[in-house]
Amino acid sequence: MTKPRVAILISGRGSNMMSLIEAASRPGFPAEIALVLSNRPDAHGLARAQAAGIAARSLDHKGFADRASFDAALDALLVEEQIDLVCLAGFMRLLTAPFVETWAGRMINIHPALLPSFKGLHTHERALEEGVKIHGCTVHFVTPEMDVGPIIMQAAVPVLEGDTPDSLGARVLAQEHVIYPAALRLVCEGRARLEGGRVVIDEFEIAPPALIVPPAG
Ligand code: GRF
Repeated sequence: MTKPRVAILISGRGSNMMSLIEAASRPGFPAEIALVLSNRPDAHGLARAQAAGIAARSLDHKGFADRASFDAALDALLVEEQIDLVCLAGFMRLLTAPFVETWAGRMINIHPALLPSFKGLHTHERALEEGVKIHGCTVHFVTPEMDVGPIIMQAAVPVLEGDTPDSLGARVLAQEHVIYPAALRLVCEGRARLEGGRVVIDEFEIAPPALIVPPAG
């Protein structure tokens, strides 16, 4: 059986991208990473993808008059590359509703917080400001409203006394690298099904839909 062709969209360093590429390079992973695409030509992740032998392209948003024309070019490129599924991995650009609707059910994102808490940017700073004791990350299907789509998988980590945004962010990022490949696997195996605006997970034997990471020490 041919594996679904996945495109990873990035804007920066691409550590989540690398976790997906590494997972997909292992035997039995049900997806092929066919393309990495950045809206920033200088994204560090592009070189990392190339070094891993993955086709890497950039589509500079600065060359387009507006969001609609950028998204139309992006869609055309994904279609040309016969992409089945899109993974947003630190893609720092809002997508238009028509683009998101075209890819509905076929586009997922990783967010560095336990949604629906802390949508948007600077999640670790805001979690520390609020004094939450548990923080984490979420993989979800993308819908037109930002950081709102049906949740596929989450990981929770403790917030420790003395945490800084960097130390907390690093603890969360380590779990992002665990749940993003696990969630992609569930989606590609057809085991994360959309039902009434929620995700239903069939059989948990490969990965649970949530990870609770105990405090260190
Ligand atoms: C990650 O924290 C991800 O959750 C967020 O942007 C960051 C991207 O980091 N959407 P990287 O480029 O994957 O290292």
